[in-house]
Order: sequence, then C-alpha cells, then structure tokens
Amino acid sequence: MSSVTERETGMDQTAKLELGGKEITCPVITGSEEEKGIDISRLRAETGYITVDEGYVNTGSTTSDITFLNGEKGILRYRGYRIEDLAAHCDFVEVSYLLLYGKLPNDQELHEFRMSLRRHTMLHEDMRSFYNGFPRDAHPMAILSSVVSGLSTFYQDSLNPSDPEQVRQSELRLIAKLPTIASYSYKKSIGQPFVYPQNKLSYCENFLNMMFSVPGEEYEIDADFVSALNMLLIVHADHEQNCSTSTVRMVGSSNANLFASISAGISALWGPLHGGANEACVNMLERIIADGGNVKKYVELAKDRDSGFRLMGFGHRVYKNHDPRATIIKAACDKLLAKLEIKDPLFEVAQELEDVALNDSYFIEKKLYPNVDFYSGVIYRAIGIPVQMFTVLFAMGRLPGWIAHWKEMHASAGKRICRPRQVYTGPTCREFVPRENRS
Ligand code: ACO
Repeated sequence: MSSVTERETGMDQTAKLELGGKEITCPVITGSEEEKGIDISRLRAETGYITVDEGYVNTGSTTSDITFLNGEKGILRYRGYRIEDLAAHCDFVEVSYLLLYGKLPNDQELHEFRMSLRRHTMLHEDMRSFYNGFPRDAHPMAILSSVVSGLSTFYQDSLNPSDPEQVRQSELRLIAKLPTIASYSYKKSIGQPFVYPQNKLSYCENFLNMMFSVPGEEYEIDADFVSALNMLLIVHADHEQNCSTSTVRMVGSSNANLFASISAGISALWGPLHGGANEACVNMLERIIADGGNVKKYVELAKDRDSGFRLMGFGHRVYKNHDPRATIIKAACDKLLAKLEIKDPLFEVAQELEDVALNDSYFIEKKLYPNVDFYSGVIYRAIGIPVQMFTVLFAMGRLPGWIAHWKEMHASAGKRICRPRQVYTGPTCREFVPRENRS
C-alpha cells in the first residue's frame, strides 16, 4: 500500500509518501506562479523505488526562470512578459536578447547586440563546400542539423561550456549564422547561387534577401513579410521544456559543446509530432483539397484510432485551452492575406477544419485545439517560403530559447548529467546457448 499526502507546516510544504510501511518526507517546490512539484530526488536512495512516467507527462525535469506557460488558461510569457505584447511591439533580435539575458534591452544594449550579431553572419568559405556533398533533394532540416554540428569543427576556440566568453562567442555565431545556413540549403535545392549576408539589413530582411534575391535582379524586401516573419520567429522563440529544448538540455548535460547540443535539438524538432507538424499540416491540407475538400471526412478519420491519421496542427501536451500562439498567428494570417489580396484555398480549408473540429464532441472532450503549427504554414506560403523550409523557420525562431535553456542548465548549482532510470521488464538471467545449438 502506498499513499501521498501533502502537509503545510508554516512556510514549508512537504509531501509524505507511505511505501511498504515506511514513511518518507519529500519537499514540495513552489514556483513564482504557485505551481507545485514534489522533489523526489532522494526517493530511490531512501526507499529503493523510482518513479515511472513514460513520455514525461508528469515529470518536472528542472526549475526554470525563462518561460511560464499555463495550458489550462492559455497563457504564455517569456521572462514574465506576455507573448501578445512581445509579438506586437518587439522584433526578434530584441526578444532573443530578453531570452538570453533575462531583461528587455535598452537602446544601447540592443544596438550593441545587433552589432555583435552582424560580425558573425558569414559562413567560413570552406563550409560552403559542405553543401556540394548533399543531394539536391536533401531535406533542409537534415542540412541544418549537419552544418550546425559542423560549426564545432570550424570554431574549436569556443567549445568549452564552462568558459562564459567562449559560450558567448558560440551563441552569437549560432544566432547570426543560422539564417545563412538555412537560406544556403534552400538555394542549393533550387540550384541558385548562394547570396552573402548583407549586414546593413535587419535580421529578417537579411534572411529574406538571402532566400529570394538573385544576382541578376534587384530584390525588393516586402515590409509586410518582414513583420510577419518577425512575429512568427517571436512566437516560436521559447516554450519551456518541450521535446527539442529538453533534448538540448539533455545533450548539454554531458558537457557536449553548444553547437553539438543545438544540432541535436534541431533533429528533435524535425519530427512531425513536434516542429515538423507545420510541414505535415500543409501537406494534410493539400491532401484534403486534392480529395475534394471534404473536411468532415478527415475529421471522422482523425477520430478513428485505427486509421493512424491525426489532424496535424491540432492538440498539445500542455495546452488544454486555446494555444495563444495560434491565436496571434491566425489574426496575422487574416491581416496579411487581406492586405495582399490573396485567396488561399489552404487557409479556407484550414478555417473550415478548425470550425468542424472545434464543434465536434471528440475534440471538445479531449481538449484538442489548433496549435502553433496550424496556421503558420499559410503565412509562410504567402511569403513564398517552400514547405520543406517551414520547420527550418521554426528552428530559427526556437534557437534563442534553446540557448537560454542550455545556459541556464549550466549555471544551475544542481547541474548533473541527465540520466533517467528504468524498470527492466526483459528476460531474467538465461543460460548462454552456443550458436550451433540454437533453434
Ligand atoms: N488528432 C486526433 N486525435 C488526437 C490528436 C489529433 N491531432 N491529438 C491527440 N489526439 C487524441 C489521441 O488519439 C488521444 O486519444 P485517446 O485518449 O483516445 O488515446 C488523446 O487525444 C491524447 O493524445 P496524446 O497523443 O496522448 O497526447 P500527447 O500529449 O501525448 O500528444 C501531440 C500531443 C503530440 C501534440 C498530439 O496532440 C499530436 O499528435 N498532434 C498532432 C501533431 C502536432 O500538431 N504536433 C505539434 C504540437 S506543437 C509543437 O510541438 C510545436
């Protein structure tokens, strides 16, 4: 028999756990927003038991000062600031500063930060030859992850995770170079020449210029695209202990360098259940259109567990109410398409799908709402970003969040290598069978 009770004694709360007649007291940790967690780190030492929580549904891997989200109320804040305010008033570099250094920069701090980034936008010329080794149709996420990992071969002077100056160099290099690495992967896929970064341009302008300009023509950067891109990067910039961020922290916990850790995060993000859902969502919407636009048919399919089909861009581990990022993106999407006078059938099908799903008892009961990936693809399409690049854009946005978490983990007094345990369920000890006697 076992049971857990929570006791409040003055300021300190503890949880009492009864296990096989023995009583163990575990401290209760309370966050600044009154979230509570039971600290079970001494449990095995004191009882021989571990906790099991597949998919970490109920596991707090750390405490963190960076991002607060409340999935029941649909709240998301970076360093205490509401995502709605940051998306409306800041640019992405400003939000990156906030995530990395914990405060909104004043004019001079922001200017210096922008200048430091500008010094690092180019890739080493030898890195360009990496791209010749990849097949033309390689997925840009595979290229992104490989080239980011490759940065550790070129910048061996900044790999020590315990040297703050080296870490600072690496974080600037990463944030400055990711748009260059990303746009080169696109240029490679369409056989156009790489476009060098232009340091007089802003972060988003520079990315669009490297993506879409060609040597033979003047490219005019559309201000609406720049502000849409800024907004998208900001709403993707952090989301506490999600799959890719946890990966970055996990890899970094072994004292692997920042480039290697971020490369692992990019790989985690690629999966269709995580960042890859934006690409999968647009593919799904195209499939629905090609199949006659029968939205109800696909909602029914998603409800049938045996079909193996899910509505991509729907549902979230944490949000059980609306995803505030999806609300911001949908409003921006509406505005951009109206301004550009674009009638995108994809947007229309997406809205119809949302309507049908949100009024369906299956989605209501399971609290499944559109997530960040549901409408972002429609904006990317309006800007002219090809579908295979969608998750790359997500990675560009998430980068400052990954770095902030990696640094926070290294700065933590309790930092240890991340090493979960397991309950073994395989065969017990067996006699070895020589090969000739095996059936
Ligand atoms: N379509 C249909 N049914 C769904 C969907 C969906 N998109 N999402 C969840 N469900 C159902 C599941 O079948 C499950 O039903 P059950 O209780 O009968 O078994 C229930 O809702 C709970 O789903 P889980 O998969 O257990 O929830 P979990 O928290 O593990 O997964 C996830 C969350 C991965 C986001 C899931 O909702 C999903 O697969 N969504 C589609 C992919 C997607 O959009 N991912 C992007 C998420 S946002 C981001 O990472 C940036």
